[in-house]
Amino acid sequence: MVDAVAAGAIHETLRLEGVRKSYGIGTPAEVEVLHGIDLRLQRGEFAALIGPSGGGKSTLLNLIGLLDSPSGGRLFVEGQETSHLDDEALTRLRGRAIGFVFQHHYLLPEFTAVENVMMPMLSQQGRPNQAMRRRAEELIEQVGLTQWRNNKATDISGGQQQRVAIARALAMQPALVLADEPTGNLDTKSSDVAFELLRQVNRQSGTTFLIVTHDPRLAQRCDRIIELVDGRLVADRPNTPLQAG
Ligand SMILES: Nc1ncnc2c1ncn2[C@@H]1O[C@H](COP(=O)(O)OP(=O)(O)O)[C@@H](O)[C@H]1O
Ligand SMILES: [Mg+2]
Repeated sequence: MVDAVAAGAIHETLRLEGVRKSYGIGTPAEVEVLHGIDLRLQRGEFAALIGPSGGGKSTLLNLIGLLDSPSGGRLFVEGQETSHLDDEALTRLRGRAIGFVFQHHYLLPEFTAVENVMMPMLSQQGRPNQAMRRRAEELIEQVGLTQWRNNKATDISGGQQQRVAIARALAMQPALVLADEPTGNLDTKSSDVAFELLRQVNRQSGTTFLIVTHDPRLAQRCDRIIELVDGRLVADRPNTPLQAG
């Protein structure tokens, strides 16, 4: 009954085939910034995406996160080819399958830590309920912030804010978490705590991670290091992570 192709796809979180991206199409400023990217991530991978500034890392993450569409090639998320999906279907797939952690946490300042973690559940399911709150409180506990759960987002430290953002990214139990310089704004110690948290979630739940970082120390703690230079993948190698600390 189980179709072999479909079964294989379940283990493949992400597949890119010849993905291209141009900006300013049809204008004099038209420029191609991704020149045909082939990439696969299997379920449970913990991969770093590195490379010089301007090389296209954020552009690539935006495409993978279904926040923007490729100008060529094919992109599969959880086995689903995305080019023919309309906005509503893309939003649904994104909400179900993908969690985001950005360099800036983008928490809603007027809301508490727990409420911020509830936001993705609210946008998927409409009205708040007790199950949502409980799930958010569990996530807040998982990131070590129980004591601050009812603090407004502005009343906790930068490192704590980023941990709330991580909890929020996990709210919908995404298959894939995309992190764009997730610790770029943090001091070394807070950065280590936040990064270890990502690693722990990966080990415990098999969530796939793709983490953009310019910090070689963090890249060395990933299982795979992918390097993007001038819109092309120039290296992709397995890595034996160094232990933290
Ligand atoms: N919205 C946009 N319009 C035009 N050019 C863009 C846009 N976003 C990014 N770029 C250009 O695309 C290239 C890759 O940028 P980016 O993906 O941000 O790289 P990275 O994250 O690796 O620093 C850069 O030359 C940048 O100027
Ligand atoms: Mg960037």
